[in-house]
Amino acid sequence: MAEHREFFYRRLHSFLGVVPIGIFLVQHLTVNHFAVYGEESFNKAAGFMGGLPFVLLLEIFVIYLPILFHAILGVYIVFTARNNTGRYGFFRNWMYILQRITGIVTLIFIAWHVFETRVQIGLGNAEANYSLMEGILTNPIMFWFYLIGVVSTVFHFANGLWSFLVTWGLTQSPRSQRISTYFCLVVFFVVSYLGVRTLIQFAYGV
Ligand code: HEM
Repeated sequence: MAEHREFFYRRLHSFLGVVPIGIFLVQHLTVNHFAVYGEESFNKAAGFMGGLPFVLLLEIFVIYLPILFHAILGVYIVFTARNNTGRYGFFRNWMYILQRITGIVTLIFIAWHVFETRVQIGLGNAEANYSLMEGILTNPIMFWFYLIGVVSTVFHFANGLWSFLVTWGLTQSPRSQRISTYFCLVVFFVVSYLGVRTLIQFAYGV
């Protein structure tokens, strides 16, 4: 019985990493990228997202609760993980370790990012607009913190996508897993570009 429950929780953890958390991550970085087309474009895009009906309910059920579940079980997995050196080749073994390290870095980054943006907006101390992010990212320490945080989160998602496809039986043969490695690499570079390009816009205005 306990084994069935663990199996179910691990499957749920895997599923939530892509739907909805991964989808939200890509959507969030795409909307933020509007900053590159100017302050007005960003404010319009952010205003549209913030003005969606039932936005708080959407945030709670589509973003916060899934991330909370994924993060709590994720931390448990990281600290109870078995050594797997014999199970994978050199490359996959490194990806396995990096998945765990980036999980923890991502957790610290998301907690801080939500605190200084969504929580402050909710408390009435800030407004969700271009100036808020410009104010944060013109500080070089915060720029580097965000740069590491965004790249770590995107790596965690892209590398997680690879293991998600294995977990759900979608890539079983060595050939399909090789193709999926290249696909996830492209996802990593494209989504990282979206995120990092936006950070540079806020920090340097270029
Ligand atoms: C934007 C945030 C996040 C996204 C998009 C995300 C996405 C994913 C995906 C897609 C997977 C692969 C699932 C699978 O192997 O089937 C995964 C695995 C994992 N995630 Fe996350 N994750 C996020 C945040 C976190 C956080 C905050 C932690 C906390 C430590 C975490 C810890 C883990 C761990 C340990 C695994 C490996 C699970 C395993 O090998 O069984 N993740 N994540």
